[in-house]
Amino acid sequence: MSEVFVSHIAEAATAVRQLTPYLPTIGLVLGSGLNALANSIQNPDIIPYEQIPHWPVSTVPGHGGRLVIGQLEGQTVLVQQGRAHFYEGYSMPQITLPIRVMQQLGVQTLIVTNAAGGINASFQPGDLMLITDHINFLGIAGHNPLRGPNEDSFGPRFPDMTRPYDLHLRQIALEVAQAHHFTLQQGVYGYVAGPSFETPAELRFLRTVGVDAVGMSTVPEVVVARHAGMRVLGISSITNKANPDPQPGTTVTHDEVLETGKQIVPNLMALIRGILPRVLETTSG
Ligand code: HPA
Repeated sequence: MSEVFVSHIAEAATAVRQLTPYLPTIGLVLGSGLNALANSIQNPDIIPYEQIPHWPVSTVPGHGGRLVIGQLEGQTVLVQQGRAHFYEGYSMPQITLPIRVMQQLGVQTLIVTNAAGGINASFQPGDLMLITDHINFLGIAGHNPLRGPNEDSFGPRFPDMTRPYDLHLRQIALEVAQAHHFTLQQGVYGYVAGPSFETPAELRFLRTVGVDAVGMSTVPEVVVARHAGMRVLGISSITNKANPDPQPGTTVTHDEVLETGKQIVPNLMALIRGILPRVLETTSG
């Protein structure tokens, strides 16, 4: 990471500190169509991204553009309402700057959400999927957010990725879903660049290599969060079927992704609210 970029992170973190007295320990990233979750934050300080230097602003409909910092279920949380994507033209360090700022602010647990296409045939639009692991197709091909000089004060040169998604947090998530009587699917998230959706041949490939849900975000943030030593929980909203054998006439659209995302919000909210009070019970898994 270049020295210039390290100074950008420091400037952004300083700006946030000046705009809120809260000291968040939990970060929450909201993906496409999941904005409404931030409305439950109590006594929020709201910071539009424009007020934070170097913060990447999403150009995508359905992505909010502000930090909401406050209390939820007795925890101090920082909610990133809307994220920037690689396909928008941002670099990997830019799209992960928010996670670095969270690190500077003292965030130790990251909950990331996204919208994803369900490749696993047993997944239905409207399901939630606990991310158990991921395949970083961009990272494998060279677009890893940690590429470049390592900033040793941020984390190690070669971070372990044996358990990217915290086992204890996953266990809590499963218990909360069971208590609320909804199914929480589990599976591997495949990170692709987008913005075009996948062809049938690409979906067959993804299915063959073990991807259960495919999407265009999250993984760079998780890599940086793990580099930063944070515990990570990832939840995908299955907004559409990503079907290698589509019925004639079917298509995938962003509107469908947003609409299904909205319908999933109540379950996602219940899940996150149920997990939050228990976050500190756990040890790293
Ligand atoms: N593919 C990739 N990204 C997505 C999809 C999809 O089908 N749905 C939501 N995000």
